[in-house]
Amino acid sequence: MTHGSSSARRLYDFIVVSNRLPVDSVSDSDGNQVWAPSPGGLVAALEPVMHHRDGAWVGWPGRADLELEPFETGGMSLIPVALSAAEVAEYYEGFSNDTLWPLYHDVIAAPSFLREWWEAYKTVNRRFAERTAEVAEHGAVVWVQDYQLQLVPKLLRDARPDLTIGFFNHIPFPSYGLFSQLPWRTQIIEGLLGADVVGFQRDADAGNFAQAVRRLKGFATKGNRITVPLVDPGGRLPSPVRDSAATRTVVARKFPISIDAPYYRDTAKRDDIRARAREIRADLGNPKTIMLGVDRLDYTKGIRHRLLAYGELLAEGRVKPEDVLLVQVASPSRERVQSYMDLRDEVELTVGRINGEYSAIGHQAISYHHRSYPREEMVALYLAADVMLVTALRDGMNLVAKEYVAARFDNAGVLVLSEFAGASDELKRAVMVNPHDIDGMKEAMLVAIEMPKSEQAQRMRSMRRRVFEDDVEKWSSGFLKALAEHRHAGDE
Ligand code: F6P
Repeated sequence: MTHGSSSARRLYDFIVVSNRLPVDSVSDSDGNQVWAPSPGGLVAALEPVMHHRDGAWVGWPGRADLELEPFETGGMSLIPVALSAAEVAEYYEGFSNDTLWPLYHDVIAAPSFLREWWEAYKTVNRRFAERTAEVAEHGAVVWVQDYQLQLVPKLLRDARPDLTIGFFNHIPFPSYGLFSQLPWRTQIIEGLLGADVVGFQRDADAGNFAQAVRRLKGFATKGNRITVPLVDPGGRLPSPVRDSAATRTVVARKFPISIDAPYYRDTAKRDDIRARAREIRADLGNPKTIMLGVDRLDYTKGIRHRLLAYGELLAEGRVKPEDVLLVQVASPSRERVQSYMDLRDEVELTVGRINGEYSAIGHQAISYHHRSYPREEMVALYLAADVMLVTALRDGMNLVAKEYVAARFDNAGVLVLSEFAGASDELKRAVMVNPHDIDGMKEAMLVAIEMPKSEQAQRMRSMRRRVFEDDVEKWSSGFLKALAEHRHAGDE
């Protein structure tokens, strides 16, 4: 099972590659280095996939200048890729999270286009591709994740044409009008076309990608298939590329990501978790209604808009602070990127103002938590919350919405969901909102607060059916099936 070298290094026939490993190296309260689960939906979705397969996970251990040998944790083989402090600043905080992230999320914040960040992005993508090529068995399946690693598919294909390569974009793919701002737009498209299957969250994302391929490369697209020449002479080719003998096909289509739904249901049913949910409600003063927001502290999540709407409802006396409490969990994220620092200041100022104005001794208007919680505590919070607020301005999917639905085995609770989150394609019985429309959000919050139990149950049942039918198992097996079919089509 070796490839190329005679070394005793272990090789793998299935490899996931993502910017972060599923565990982060962090300092505990005594300053010791410990491993903690990584933030975000990507890791939450891929962990169950890895537990079912004897593969390897290539990624960054979350701290600068950490050179580590491969190691095993939680039944997974992890292959760390080291990043220097300068690379963390330029590749991760810079190009990934201050160029691509705002650009791909409809330019909610202004993207910065810095040439030195692009250089770092190329260097780090090359390192991820090299590390992956070193540990991949001949003919292995490699599944590359997300916008931080868009050059890896082509780099891998050039180095290892024997591999079957998938790419999944967890965040939106922008319309061509926005994408075309990127000075390195053609290189990004070429990087992604190195994959056999490119997956997106929504049809609109796959459509935007196909349009960028046509406009920038001139390759023909039909349905979800793109015809790519085996040797790309670079630049824009006249469309369509006709010589089919010298082409390959890339599939680009949606594979909406999901969650391990049975985990959330079964955890929510546990006596200790239900007791904890009751305890949370009691600790919060047993208000009539608890509204809950759970987000990474990110400007795409619409936290400011949500606070504004709730603040106005309080100011107008349409909700009473002693009746309705907002719990906002805002987990720390990308804390050295300026736009995230600005967001934190603004959110915390607003929370402080609302609480100063409307809290009383003994009860708060907003219970705000700038930290993340273990998954079980989140499930207890979901059970304790009457209304879940997911008001993202743009979101690839939003797994919190699906987690809330999966946890509500009692068919109670109301989901208020932004139409700009990918989850709105599936969770159609949520109370839909346009988070830019503050009056509309206020109405939606009132509808949710006042919704009769029978209507809650009807809506929740229908959403639960959907989340349990299309869970993370279906997402990963669907994607990997499409990759396998692609490989077999190539064998013929
Ligand atoms: O899903 C989007 C995403 O950027 C993932 O790639 C990432 O794991 C998660 O959000 C959290 O972001 P970060 O790794 O920058 O903390």
